[in-house]
Amino acid sequence: MAKTMSSTISWTTTIFSEKLGHRSDKVRVCGIEDYKACARSLAEAFYDDDVAFYFLDVPDNGGKTREELWPLHLEILEYIVCAHIHNGLVLSIGENHEGVALWMPPGKNMDDWYTIFRTGMWRLYFKLTAEGKKRYFGEFMEVLHQTKVNALGEQDNDAWYLVYIGVTPSARGRGYARKLVEHVTDKVDQEGGAPCYLESSHIRNVSMYQRFGFEKHSRVYLGEQTEKPVPLDIMIRPAMTYTKTGRRMSTVGYKLGSK
Ligand SMILES: CC(C)(COP(=O)(O)OP(=O)(O)OC[C@H]1O[C@@H](n2cnc3c(N)ncnc32)[C@H](O)[C@@H]1OP(=O)(O)O)[C@@H](O)C(=O)NCCC(=O)NCCS
Repeated sequence: MAKTMSSTISWTTTIFSEKLGHRSDKVRVCGIEDYKACARSLAEAFYDDDVAFYFLDVPDNGGKTREELWPLHLEILEYIVCAHIHNGLVLSIGENHEGVALWMPPGKNMDDWYTIFRTGMWRLYFKLTAEGKKRYFGEFMEVLHQTKVNALGEQDNDAWYLVYIGVTPSARGRGYARKLVEHVTDKVDQEGGAPCYLESSHIRNVSMYQRFGFEKHSRVYLGEQTEKPVPLDIMIRPAMTYTKTGRRMSTVGYKLGSK
């Protein structure tokens, strides 16, 4: 059963106000003072990611290497992290924020002009190449928005959106990603359930998300007309909740796991 808007707001307020201590194995809620460190970790995590470089690895960039594109890659992630600190939920784990997850709560997004101006994201109009701008502001934002609406249908406004999750290469395999996901999914389940949504930018991650209760929904491509289309696997974790015996059940009637 989807939550009502008022319970979503009160729940969101609770999770936002949870400023947890800086223990390295604990998930914490980040504020604006953390945005640079979080962006840096995400930039490192996504350094070999074709989606993150979709607007940078463009034919009109003068043949720049990823190393040369790093400063702009990092800057883009700084804007995105800022937007999530203002409009969403930024979680991190590790002594130096080595693991970071950017979540958008139900009904929130970062596509409005106020957010584009407030975070400095407008600067990308001047920093990206013509093709980069077309891909970022034209195709990427539009495709992602429309795909989410189509996939979730009337549940779109009830869904939590895992926009980015990344762990720096040296901190992988410690369970950070699981903790960053379950920090939200456990609370959502305890509150009666709501769908969670993501686009997986690499096929290797699909099985990891399945372990967290996400299911494959569909596949879309960025740059379908280009030589190297970039696939995105759309995954949805259906609303789940607990039965009286503590078993975790999908609210649409089938069992997904237990706790
Ligand atoms: C994907 C990523 C976030 C995983 O982070 P991590 O902290 O190493 O993951 P965890 O240690 O929490 O592992 C979580 C679970 O997934 C499994 N797992 C981890 N990476 C996996 C992968 N690439 N494929 C399949 N399973 C994976 C682990 O075995 C673990 O399973 P378990 O908890 O049931 O034992 C990290 O490798 C990363 O940042 N990659 C680059 C950026 C990226 O691809 N982000 C996701 C974009 S869609």
